[in-house]
Amino acid sequence: MVNSQEFIEGAIAEIKREVGNHRAIVALSGGVDSSVCAALAYQALGANLYPVYVDTGLMRKGETENIKRTFRHMPLTIIDAKARFINALGGVADPEEKRKITGETFIRIFEEVARRNQVEYLVQGTIYPDIIESEGQIKSHHNVGGLPSEIAFNGVVEPLKYLYKDEVREIARALKLPPELSERMPFPGPGLAVRIIGEVTEEKLHVIREANAIVEQEVLRYKPWQTFAALLEKGTGVKGDVRLHGWIIAVRAVQSRDGMTADVLEMSYDALRRIASRITSEIPDVARVVYDITPKPPATIEFE
Ligand code: XMP
Repeated sequence: MVNSQEFIEGAIAEIKREVGNHRAIVALSGGVDSSVCAALAYQALGANLYPVYVDTGLMRKGETENIKRTFRHMPLTIIDAKARFINALGGVADPEEKRKITGETFIRIFEEVARRNQVEYLVQGTIYPDIIESEGQIKSHHNVGGLPSEIAFNGVVEPLKYLYKDEVREIARALKLPPELSERMPFPGPGLAVRIIGEVTEEKLHVIREANAIVEQEVLRYKPWQTFAALLEKGTGVKGDVRLHGWIIAVRAVQSRDGMTADVLEMSYDALRRIASRITSEIPDVARVVYDITPKPPATIEFE
């Protein structure tokens, strides 16, 4: 890793060189990669940068409000695309197809916004592991392999493409981004869509969004590299003496350096029991909670 200041100066110069006097769009997702990318692009391009946040409906609980607050110093455009994403994903169960659809929907929205605002370049926060995992066909990370081959931009600029996650965090600290951002755990581009096994529906999205919020509240105190909930299938349970055919939620918590490999976070039985109890009592349609004890490899971190 090069020195952070040198990297920042180099990246700003590269963005200026590639984009020139044109306008560029940058999409914020609330994560550290896109935030660093936007901060660099803003320093490079100033008023020629067009920052957008696409509310896909696949984001974490409270995310839209968070983003508005965090980036209030930027002229952020918020696009409500919830209906568009859920429609595009309707009836699709295959994980790779779901990734391709979210990637494609994102890019078409960027293109439409770009066309309306005379924007010619796209600045993206792709990092090195995204490229490796997409090229190695482990899965198409939506900001790389999930992109359609035809993109209506003059150029795509990826200033972080040779960095690992911990290096991006170092740059975020050097850029003085708030710690809630620089230290924030990763969240996949396709969002909650890859935390639902099979078809995405409004009902499943509601359940998994609530479950993710509970898992974050309960597990972040143990300092995992990443933690979340995934929604599996339905199974039989019993609540208040009545049989319930309810959702099965898997809890995942891992330690990792760069996401390429991962170990399971060891949590006390009390902590696990508390998570199961909160999820089943606070989300009425959940009948069962399981803890994933598989490292990567052989499992990946996300379920899809
Ligand atoms: P996997 O599931 O491949 O995840 O072991 C490794 C890390 O990458 C994140 N991830 C993604 N990030 N777009 C992203 O920007 C994606 O499509 C994507 N898929 C997975 C995942 O959350 C983990 O931190």
